[in-house]
Amino acid sequence: MITVRFLLNGTATTVEAPGMRPLLHVLRVDLDLTGTKEACGEGECGACSVILDGSVVNACLVPMCQVDGRAVRTVEGLARPGPDGVRVLDPVQQALLDAGGVQCGMCIPGILMAARAHLDGGGSADEDAIREAIAGNLCRCTGYMKIVEAIAAVAAAPAGRSAAANGEARAGQPAGQPAAAGTR
Ligand code: FES
Ligand code: FES
Repeated sequence: MITVRFLLNGTATTVEAPGMRPLLHVLRVDLDLTGTKEACGEGECGACSVILDGSVVNACLVPMCQVDGRAVRTVEGLARPGPDGVRVLDPVQQALLDAGGVQCGMCIPGILMAARAHLDGGGSADEDAIREAIAGNLCRCTGYMKIVEAIAAVAAAPAGRSAAANGEARAGQPAGQPAAAGTR
């Protein structure tokens, strides 16, 4: 067992875990953050995508020994506190709902994280660029078109692009993690 200290959706978090235990299992089993999905378990589908220090990774392939001192953002960290304590969806979550881009939902948390990383990195609304950004995320339901359109709409709207930083790197600030679109 090792002690791993990291930022999880902006909250300083400490876990005891075997060094090779996948981050995915720590999130889902140890920390009850089940928004991040497990499907293939071997880096092929993207269902388990999270943002690690600004880059999208497959949490099923990241051992806890590589997480110490880093910042992890999951789908639970996308929605942010709004007026009257009501949480406000990330623009990408809202756009996917508005576009009807969600069917069974299994792929959606991973696609949301890939999309958010694309936007945070200054990614454009260009269809090819968006398809490349989500190329590691398999969806068997939607045909991707509405997903791409939703991400493009956010990329084209400055407000949506800049709504990114919630939960990324603010140690000690409670994140609050109720189920939001794409988290269960
Ligand atoms: S569950 Fe991690 S890539 Fe499929
Ligand atoms: S919505 Fe079902 S896998 Fe994408």
